[in-house]
Amino acid sequence: MYIRYNLNFKNMLKIKVNSKEYNFDPEKDNNLMQQLVSQGAEIVSACGGAGICQTCSFKPLSGSFTKKTDTEKMMDLPDGQRLSCQCKPEEDGEIEMIY
Ligand code: FES
Repeated sequence: MYIRYNLNFKNMLKIKVNSKEYNFDPEKDNNLMQQLVSQGAEIVSACGGAGICQTCSFKPLSGSFTKKTDTEKMMDLPDGQRLSCQCKPEEDGEIEMIY
């Protein structure tokens, strides 16, 4: 008889996007958009993550995110909005995609 142990102790974060839950692995280099898209989230990305189109922008509803990058600071984003291609969550949270 074989017993299979789950040795995955990673501390995955839970991110709710428009009411659907996704995982975010903080140990990966991938940004929020990349990790959500890899799990099937539909996020518009007209510039491919270069930080210039704003189509990946979201409104944080809860949780905290890495501080704004220089690219985000140069954009004229409405108050509180972030670019999912430029940040990562720091804890469980919920976001609302703008597009
Ligand atoms: S994908 Fe274009 S700004 Fe994020």
